[in-house]
Amino acid sequence: MKTLIIVIHPDLTHSVINKRWIEELEKQPEKYTIHKLYDAYPDEKIDVRAEQQRIEQYDKIIFQFPLYWFSSPPLLKKWFDEVLIRGWAYGSKSGYKMAGKRIALVLSAGIAEDEFMPTKKYKYTLEELTRPFELTFDYVKADYRSFYAYYGMEHNATKEWAEQSIPGYLSFIETLG
Ligand SMILES: Cc1cc2nc3c(=O)[nH]c(=O)nc-3n(C[C@H](O)[C@H](O)[C@H](O)COP(=O)(O)O)c2cc1C
Repeated sequence: MKTLIIVIHPDLTHSVINKRWIEELEKQPEKYTIHKLYDAYPDEKIDVRAEQQRIEQYDKIIFQFPLYWFSSPPLLKKWFDEVLIRGWAYGSKSGYKMAGKRIALVLSAGIAEDEFMPTKKYKYTLEELTRPFELTFDYVKADYRSFYAYYGMEHNATKEWAEQSIPGYLSFIETLG
């Protein structure tokens, strides 16, 4: 069973790490399907039924995005608001179409990991900052498997730095089963 990777990055042309991750995943098309949300909807008008049908075909789904203002780029919030609707995502017996699906986040962050701590400048860990995602996936009864994050791109936006994130990403996907 393939894993669906939904990428939410508004500017992949200038991306270092998310672009590199996509390149790596595309080497194994038998294992991964990549769906780039901003490419699919340059006008940000989401085809809700097409998105729901795509989700229905996969049991393992990753939402991959760069951390923007301690959350996701806005198209993912729009996607949640429009795709996860009553009768499909929740609210009726046959409606929980994401129930039991293994879902995880993969995040890139500009800031270094040790800055996301109570005693440091950014106070909250990514575990805490991603609570709204966790609760959303809980609400629709998906099997939320937390996240893989690669930090510190702000000071290390090099290809070499990005390269080091790849084994961790690939083995994280393996943990989804
Ligand atoms: C609009 C915007 C907001 C950002 N907000 C954050 C943030 O809140 N925390 C953080 O660690 N990095 C933040 N960054 C840095 C990005 O997370 C970082 O550049 C990105 O993860 C690198 O991935 P890429 O090479 O694929 O673009 C922000 C960048 C932009 C453009």
